[in-house]
Order: sequence, then C-alpha cells, then structure tokens
Amino acid sequence: MKEINITTSFTIFDNLNELPAEIQELMNQAIEVRKKAYAPYSKFKVGAALLLDNGKVILGSNQENAAYPSGLCAERTAIFYAGSTYPEAKILKMAITAASDTNQTTAPIPPCGSCRQSIAEYEIKQDTPIEIYFMGEIGEVYKSSSLKNLLPLMFDKKFL
Ligand code: THU
Repeated sequence: MKEINITTSFTIFDNLNELPAEIQELMNQAIEVRKKAYAPYSKFKVGAALLLDNGKVILGSNQENAAYPSGLCAERTAIFYAGSTYPEAKILKMAITAASDTNQTTAPIPPCGSCRQSIAEYEIKQDTPIEIYFMGEIGEVYKSSSLKNLLPLMFDKKFL
C-alpha cells in the first residue's frame, strides 16, 4: 500500500480591482450577465464570461427549471454555446461570479463538479489551458491557471 499527495495551486486576489485590466473587464461582463440569470428557485445567480482566441466574449447565466435537474449552470450555458458556435476557437479565459438574492456571497464560488468535467473536455480538446477566475458577489477572486487544478484525477478520453 502507498499513499500519494496531489497538490494544486491558486492565486488569490483581494478584490476585483487587483485583477489585470483585461480580466476585470471579463469579470464585469460576467457580473452583468449574472443579473440576467433565471434562478427563481434557488435565488442564486451565476454569470460566466469566456474569452476566445478569436476575440469573441461568450456569456452565460444559470437557467433553472421547475423540474430542477433540467436547469443548467452558467458555466455550461456559456461553454456549450462557445463549442456550438465557434467549434474551432480556443477558450483562453473564463470569469465566474455568483450572487444570492437572500444573502451576500463573499466567498469565491468555484464551478460545480459537472461544470468542471465539462470545462475539462474543452481544455483537453483544445490542448491548451483555460485560465479560470471565480468570485462571489464581492471579495476575493481566485485564479486557477488551468482547469486541472480544480479536478485532480480527472476522467477523460484517455481512459476510453
Ligand atoms: N450554479 C451554477 O450556475 N454554476 C455552478 O457552478 C454552481 C451552481 C447554479 C445552478 C443553480 O441554478 C444555482 O446555481 C444553485 O445551485
């Protein structure tokens, strides 16, 4: 028997203003689209903005459904739109923000497991890392230089 240790790493910015200008702009677009989320059940609104290597910015917000599992997270709304519309483009950066209507979200909100798996698929497909920035409504912003930091031991096509 043996034990292994897997380390992962993130950069933490104190707030939005500490981010490079280009990322601030991307995060601001995520904040704007977050406000358009359709989240009548959870009251938890999430926005995602993707910067592609063709210069396009793709936005997505969470879309809920009375049949709860039929809804979709903001990250996958955006990433599937990018994959459908610009299948040849690479995703360079992704900004994510979440805010609850019922209490102020100060903790950085990381993408859920299903979104991590979906982002992983595109990172592997394009064979270059996707930078991911995530925050709550205010406060710290976490940066991951690749999806891999968020999903150690990921399942991908090499196992098929
Ligand atoms: N949600 C996202 O949009 N992204 C995540 O990564 C986590 C959760 C949404 C799904 C649901 O509409 C609401 O947040 C509460 O879970």
